[in-house]
Amino acid sequence: MSAKIIAIANQKGGVGKTTSAINIAHILSETNKVLLIDDDPQGNCTKCFTIDRIAPESDTITLYSDSPSETVAPLVVTDTLALLGTHIHLAAVAERTYEVVFDFKSRLLSLRDHYDYIVIDCPPNFGYLLNAALISADFILVPIELDIFALDGLRDLIQSIERTRKRHNPTLKVAGIVANKVHGQKTRIEKEIEAELHHIYSKLLLDTQITLSVKIPESHASSKAVTDHAPNSQQALQYRRLVDELITRMIAMGSHA
Ligand SMILES: Nc1ncnc2c1ncn2[C@@H]1O[C@H](COP(=O)(O)OP(=O)(O)O)[C@@H](O)[C@H]1O
Ligand SMILES: [Mg+2]
Repeated sequence: MSAKIIAIANQKGGVGKTTSAINIAHILSETNKVLLIDDDPQGNCTKCFTIDRIAPESDTITLYSDSPSETVAPLVVTDTLALLGTHIHLAAVAERTYEVVFDFKSRLLSLRDHYDYIVIDCPPNFGYLLNAALISADFILVPIELDIFALDGLRDLIQSIERTRKRHNPTLKVAGIVANKVHGQKTRIEKEIEAELHHIYSKLLLDTQITLSVKIPESHASSKAVTDHAPNSQQALQYRRLVDELITRMIAMGSHA
């Protein structure tokens, strides 16, 4: 077993990184062993996943340590799903030296043999925490909203991914861009942005889109994946379709050996 590492990244907040990380990890864990890593000091992913909202025993900060005495012990959520949770102290990692990103990578790679997939929920800004995920991942999934800021944000992120690929992670691939919070009946602006994205990133834009629904915030409030909270909702089906599309893409792109 050697896990495929998927980072859910976009330096813009509120686009659905955490929602996607939770749901993708949850769906993958129905048939695979999955580790979900909360790499955002806000800890939203951790709060959504720990039913009783108790902090996990071992957290993501341990991945940024080079001290052998700090062991990485993810919280067991189910037989097939583990979580490295986090809290606001993760932000202090950015005050250490840049080398912490390499500590993250080597620690993460040492966990690889225990899982089929490792899913990383990234923070909403550029910096060490996002860099660590980018230098470690095999694939990036980019959730976006179809608004006018999406294009600028995407350009900056793709540039950052290109730089990471050149310097530190030559096999890093963008598995796809997924539009989230899309209105059931697309607005004129959404249609225009979608057309523009097709034009610029045709190969990267995924067919699956996640529509806007109160089922998503409700699922977070009940500490559940939407597939558990509302199994027959459109969003549950869309997330299942997204995982299928993602897997097909990763295979087609030639997953890592
Ligand atoms: N498809 C959706 N429909 C409705 N609300 C959504 C949807 N996706 C995300 N949200 C809500 O938007 C907010 C931001 O989502 P989140 O996944 O936390 O984004 P990020 O991690 O990128 O900041 C949350 O309150 C979440 O419940
Ligand atoms: Mg988030």
